[in-house]
Amino acid sequence: MTARDGGELPYFFTWSKQRGVRGLRMTGGEGVYFDTEDQGRMLDMGSLTYQAALGHGHRRMIDAICAQAQRLCVSTPSAVYPEKRALAELLLAHAPEGFTKVFFTLGGSDANENALKIARMVTGRYKVVSRYRSYHGATLGAVSVGGDWRRPLAEPGIPGAVHVLDLDAASGREGKTDIPRVLELEGNVGAVMLEPVVGHNGVLIPDADYYARVRTACDAHGALMIADEVLVGFGRTGRFFGLEHWKDAAGERLVPDMITCGKAITAGYGTLGAVLVHERIANYFDDHVLAAGLTHYAHPLAIATGAEAIRIYDEERLPEHAAALGPQLASALEAIVDAQPKALRHRAIGLFGCVDLDRRVVDFGRLAAALEARHVFVHLNPSLGSVIVSPPLLITEDELRDGMNRVAEAIDEVCA
Ligand SMILES: Cc1ncc(COP(=O)(O)O)c(C=O)c1O
Repeated sequence: MTARDGGELPYFFTWSKQRGVRGLRMTGGEGVYFDTEDQGRMLDMGSLTYQAALGHGHRRMIDAICAQAQRLCVSTPSAVYPEKRALAELLLAHAPEGFTKVFFTLGGSDANENALKIARMVTGRYKVVSRYRSYHGATLGAVSVGGDWRRPLAEPGIPGAVHVLDLDAASGREGKTDIPRVLELEGNVGAVMLEPVVGHNGVLIPDADYYARVRTACDAHGALMIADEVLVGFGRTGRFFGLEHWKDAAGERLVPDMITCGKAITAGYGTLGAVLVHERIANYFDDHVLAAGLTHYAHPLAIATGAEAIRIYDEERLPEHAAALGPQLASALEAIVDAQPKALRHRAIGLFGCVDLDRRVVDFGRLAAALEARHVFVHLNPSLGSVIVSPPLLITEDELRDGMNRVAEAIDEVCA
């Protein structure tokens, strides 16, 4: 079988036409590198699907899975066991004050799905405001609330999904929010769901007063604020949660009503998501049925990987490490823009960055080949012209320099 015949395999590939689809023949990996049968050893400057924040073959993560498998491997949603409590406490310790409960899910989409259901149950309202420049997951509710090309393909979606276009990458820094005005005009909005830093839709970083305005408007109109930290949570932006970069109107830590998690919650070593819930929402369910559940709720192997990943983020101070390497990443991206007229602008925060190429003239097929030839993996979003970099958080300065050199060379080659 050649590398290009993935469409002939007896399973689907996601988000693709199956004919001619290209699979990644992964065999293993170590640190910031993963190994493939056909492309050799790749420097992972994307953390795979943004989840591999601890890189590949991490010994502590593998040991945590083995140890949990020996103790308790199959459970039921109502099971009570120590690691389940430990993970909930670790997550809540990083949330703002007042967060008291965790609802576990299998990934990011169903974390958002369940946050939307909780918002409906608590507010009695079904409208949700979100951005066009966003992705919140693939399940029907989450994809309806998302705004990128994946939503129209699944429509009709859930009723009440209202989208706003208030972040504009072209202006460099992003625009002021329309959300307060939309909440006022729309009426009866139950929730606002936002990625604190927009992820795969182009690393958009709102202005300093953006979330204070959203929080104030949510309070004024009775809407819950849901922070989708699935992609940027767990240190990616240089803080444990992305929303920690913003303050509320009083200058205090911003407190949403729910925080959704996925991806790096297990660094990719387990299948897990979570909804962290503020007490003012959680208390509602003391006397009302929480009409939500999953057979694999809090699966022990997933829970063990989540708890171990967070211990490693904390012990190795990886959010701080991401913050410390942020300027190095930002200046490497800036150098690409300075050197290359077809590179229009860059944005970066912590170990998360993006350069927008002029998509009218840059061939993203050639760019993918040029990157592959240099054995470096990043995210390409051809519909926006974006090249997105999000390496494992444990990357060293030298590895980051090497990775960005490879990315810059590939861009130079296709822009020449
Ligand atoms: C911001 C955001 N939310 C939710 C999701 C969905 O997560 P999952 O694919 O784990 O269901 C993603 C996935 O890319 C995401 O980037």
